Amino acid sequence: MKVQKERGEIAYPRHIAVIMDGNGRWAKKRLLPRGAGHRAGLKRMIELTEHAFLSGAQYLTLYALSTENLQRPKEELDGLYALFRDYFSEHVEKLVKKDIRLRVIGDISLLPEDIVSLIRDGEGRTAEGKRGLLILAIAYGARQEIVSAVNQAVRAGEEVDEEKFSSLLYTEGVPAPDLLIRTGKEKRLSNFLLWQSAYSELYFSDKMFPDFKCADFDKAVSDYLARDRRYGKV
Ligand code: IPE
Ligand code: IPE
Ligand code: MG
Repeated sequence: MKVQKERGEIAYPRHIAVIMDGNGRWAKKRLLPRGAGHRAGLKRMIELTEHAFLSGAQYLTLYALSTENLQRPKEELDGLYALFRDYFSEHVEKLVKKDIRLRVIGDISLLPEDIVSLIRDGEGRTAEGKRGLLILAIAYGARQEIVSAVNQAVRAGEEVDEEKFSSLLYTEGVPAPDLLIRTGKEKRLSNFLLWQSAYSELYFSDKMFPDFKCADFDKAVSDYLARDRRYGKV
């Protein structure tokens, strides 16, 4: 997907990041428990993942659980953990077949041990995936990621430049997101990829994540393709 522009051509976004927000409100509107919203969100996430890689993305980063979300009630977290278990135990094989590599970013030591094992197993089994990289941000916080990078640099006793600093982040080796989408009506980053998104194009959708269909995703990409990325230049 390409559009001809006055200032030149802009290619399909290589890296798309999505803040998948609005599951709870989606459920509330239907008088369903929040967990039903998360289940619907997971279904949508699987569909959009396939669509994004088929459409031409090479990297897709999905914000599934923030560090701050870990303060939610135990009942909601248990429901989310059950969905993660289902996803990692049933879905990894499909990623292997589709040649997609999986990486999880975040402080996974904050998660139940069996989920950590499933994540490690999933990353191992998809390690040869060449078609694209799916990055799931789970127990992720950008400030925590930055502080951890600073501490690594301090321990090494070395000054860092931008390139070195980037290599100390969880996203080491991954280009910055070209397009960052947030669903669910809010217009904020909620501690997501604060360093990496310095020059990302932002797109906010009023749709709750379970309602955010492939056509809505394509609309976000079209909007991106019509933009002019100046990076501070003229
Ligand atoms: C996003 O949906 C998913 C997670 C944060 C786990 P929410 O659960 O935040 O849904 P809303 O914002 O309450 O509607
Ligand atoms: C951001 O959504 C985190 C994820 C979507 C995983 P939140 O629902 O946690 O964000 P706030 O609390 O509205 O900022
Ligand atoms: Mg929310």
